[in-house]
Amino acid sequence: MTKKILLFGCAALCATTLFAQKGKTANIIPLPEKCTLKSGEFVVNPQTKIALIGGGENQQMQYAVARLNELLGTAAGFSLPVVASGAGNNTITCTLNPKIKSDEAYTLSVKPNKIQVQAKTPQGIFYAMQTIRQLLPPQIEGKQQASDVKWAIPCIEVEDAPRYIYRGLHLDVGRHFMSKNEVMQYIDLLAYHKMNTFHWHLTEDQGWRIEIKQYPRLTTVGAYRNRTLKGAYVAPEKRQWDNTRYGGFYTQDDVKEVLAYAEKRFVTVIPEIELPGHAVAALTAYPRYSCTGGPFEVEGLWGVHNDIFCPREETFTFLENILTEVADLFPSEYIHIGGDEAPKRRWERCHACQERIKKEGLKNEHELQAYFITRIEKFLATKGKKIIGWDEILEGGISPSATIMYWRARESDTSVTAAVRRGNKVIMTPNSHAYLDYYQANPKTEPHTIGGYLPIWKVYEYEPSLPGLTPKEAERVLGFQGNVWTEYMATFDRVLYMAYPRAAAVAEVGWSPKAKRNYDNFQERLMEVMKRYSAMGINYNRTFLTEDRTAKK
Ligand code: ACM
Ligand code: ZN
Repeated sequence: MTKKILLFGCAALCATTLFAQKGKTANIIPLPEKCTLKSGEFVVNPQTKIALIGGGENQQMQYAVARLNELLGTAAGFSLPVVASGAGNNTITCTLNPKIKSDEAYTLSVKPNKIQVQAKTPQGIFYAMQTIRQLLPPQIEGKQQASDVKWAIPCIEVEDAPRYIYRGLHLDVGRHFMSKNEVMQYIDLLAYHKMNTFHWHLTEDQGWRIEIKQYPRLTTVGAYRNRTLKGAYVAPEKRQWDNTRYGGFYTQDDVKEVLAYAEKRFVTVIPEIELPGHAVAALTAYPRYSCTGGPFEVEGLWGVHNDIFCPREETFTFLENILTEVADLFPSEYIHIGGDEAPKRRWERCHACQERIKKEGLKNEHELQAYFITRIEKFLATKGKKIIGWDEILEGGISPSATIMYWRARESDTSVTAAVRRGNKVIMTPNSHAYLDYYQANPKTEPHTIGGYLPIWKVYEYEPSLPGLTPKEAERVLGFQGNVWTEYMATFDRVLYMAYPRAAAVAEVGWSPKAKRNYDNFQERLMEVMKRYSAMGINYNRTFLTEDRTAKK
């Protein structure tokens, strides 16, 4: 352990020194579209002002600068007055300019006497503030006031805009529950790297995590399990259980607090309510919506389970009532409805399911799943919402208005590309490159995970575009997302260890121009960013510093 820390210190120092001499780019992740470091610096002091021009009274403009100011308040011991005019010296002037090329784009000019930011929207201003945050000394991320720090920002000219409109990070709070405050920290961190979407996986076989007022048993019963598998997923006769009651859920007030927090960071929160599969917790609370009638127990075992929602009228009413509350709570244009890993075993033997197949003229259970998803999609459209579903929603046919979340790398390549040609949008989260629950280094020295091997360089290598599309079709590839499934992450500390720094690579793949991506350069910038993670006090993985990239596992 000591050896590793020493190694880390040396590697960080050497690379930082070397890099500063080369002086090519600033240590910003994700790498800006264009960025030139200049000589000199702007020093933030208690007399520095933030001026908001062309929207100072706008709440979102206030949000755009609030996070940086909050950090200064803690770390520097002063925050900056925010004014609506006076673009003079010793001022960070933020101007809304409709000519800036896209909604999330910004320009940033740091000169010794002033800083100028321009963006089309407050979100662009917010991203400029995140860039400034990364250019300030690492102590800006500290939890206490730092003494003897010069709050200097190097002179720089930045023109920046994201490559993709969707840059996301997912968190499964079903397998292990993360508190409201932990979820907020997760959101703050993803916004730090200019990601704009938090995919909140709220329901699972192992726990239902969101209060639904009309169905209180979903949380009084469905949010708690009586036991959890201990250790690795092994053969049934070898399994060990902790026999400990485990659970938790978010009240609708908690959800509103998280949403308000995300809004201030320009992060869209997409809730996922899984159907028809991964529904054992819900069915434990309300077994009558299953094919067999139960009884069930909230699962303590990972994997795929056979009991799924039975597509009867009363089940649709139940799900529609749930989704009505969810749609009312979340402002997001999308609701994720799952759709993955729904075994058809129960449907094959269920009278009601077989009657439905006959009545609707369907060929088989796959078409029944498509019917299920399409019905839910049509219902959500009445609430002004669109659906996202895992790539299994392609099986049995889907409507062109559904957005696919591609996860089964290779297996679904052809079908996803064909669907995009037909008009569907897609978000890339392939398990080959985006599953941050996989091992990031040698399994012999890493804590137990679900398996796989996904070192940070492999995340970084990912190219989200699909081959052979016309430019118009290519626009339907919305972006890239990292997924954090928590079977083997019982604590938030472990979640962060698995997500970071790989999430920084996810962010750069989604934001930076393809032609500018370079892993060696990314690693050098990451050295500096890691100092910031340390100042934040988060647990993160450092193994890439000592990895042998030729030893592909
Ligand atoms: C998934 O990993 N089942 C989407
Ligand atoms: Zn059934």
